[in-house]
Amino acid sequence: MPQINRQFVLASRPQGAVTPDNFKLVETPLAPLADGEIRVRNHFLSLDPYMRGRMNDSKSYAPPQPLNEVMIGGTVGEVVESKNPKFAVGDKVVAMFGWQEYGTSNGEGVQKVDDTHVPLSAYLGPVGMPGVTAWYGLNRILAPQAGQTVVVSAASGAVGSVVGQLAKLAGARAVGIAGGADKCRYVIETLGFDACVDYKAGNLYQDLKAATPGGVDGCFENVGGEVLEATIARMNPSGRIALCGYIAGYDGQPVPLRHPSLILTQRLLVQGFIVTEHLDVWPEALKQLGTLVAQKKLQYRETIAQGLDAAPEAFIGLLKGRNFGKQLVKLI
Ligand SMILES: NC(=O)c1ccc[n+]([C@@H]2O[C@H](COP(=O)([O-])OP(=O)(O)OC[C@H]3O[C@@H](n4cnc5c(N)ncnc54)[C@H](OP(=O)(O)O)[C@@H]3O)[C@@H](O)[C@H]2O)c1
Repeated sequence: MPQINRQFVLASRPQGAVTPDNFKLVETPLAPLADGEIRVRNHFLSLDPYMRGRMNDSKSYAPPQPLNEVMIGGTVGEVVESKNPKFAVGDKVVAMFGWQEYGTSNGEGVQKVDDTHVPLSAYLGPVGMPGVTAWYGLNRILAPQAGQTVVVSAASGAVGSVVGQLAKLAGARAVGIAGGADKCRYVIETLGFDACVDYKAGNLYQDLKAATPGGVDGCFENVGGEVLEATIARMNPSGRIALCGYIAGYDGQPVPLRHPSLILTQRLLVQGFIVTEHLDVWPEALKQLGTLVAQKKLQYRETIAQGLDAAPEAFIGLLKGRNFGKQLVKLI
């Protein structure tokens, strides 16, 4: 067992775009376990857009990431040492150990998972927080009826890919918006969406209009800015918008909405949500999502950076759309 834990801490807060020097790699001795504690070797770290918000020292739904502390993050791994009777060596667990190779805990907030039918990494994607986010926004806010049209932005990503597939399972028409021809091809051919619009092709509104001949009944918004603008302009009366993310604005640049009056004239319902505030739905959502993945009825894709050292660049890439599917870091 190594005596050293490698960790990334937040070294400084970004001014605009994130840079590698916002993070610092530190090595910390692993202290012997106290009674009741477990030690987990993290196998995968999840990189997620919400981390960008935590790097700011500003008012939000969650407190800022403190400087010089291990960066927040979801992890999956294996118990390698246990002084807690509820955990045995070899147990696979999901936790929030952050950007580090080992996690030490009294077991609080650490969930055992079964990787017999669901790969361990999927507990950070379709059978984890991103999957539940898709499930909540789709089922509890958009609630599409058969034949209605749902549009989802960042459609090839961790959340968006699940939204469109769940919409299809509900009998709705799923239209994605994604960056680039490759991502759009994947969204249609592998994920089974009915259409996908490449917002980088330069004709966003007209392409979305062609892809949504009956208008849009549900918008699952992950991006904001001009992507949201185009979708709002296609919304049917009494349409619903699940405002999940606004990644176009995460680096602090203004992303104004030029025609908010459409919310009034089309009588739209706009509902922002934070998935961790709806813990009551997690068991039901995770059960459904786990079954779908185990039965291979829910497709997903991962972009895996190799080794903890690769985490900062992978995170910067995620915020620039370089990931294709769920962004992970393989730690072992
Ligand atoms: N409300 C909640 O509780 C909750 C929970 C989880 C996630 N979220 C939000 O859901 C959204 C998707 O998260 P995810 O984990 O599934 O990430 P993801 O879609 O796997 O990756 C992010 C994607 O966003 C797109 N993107 C990145 N920068 C962009 C920019 N400046 N303008 C336009 N598009 C950009 C890129 O896709 P393209 O190449 O297609 O542009 C990129 O691949 C994020 O906004 C996130 O904050 C919210």
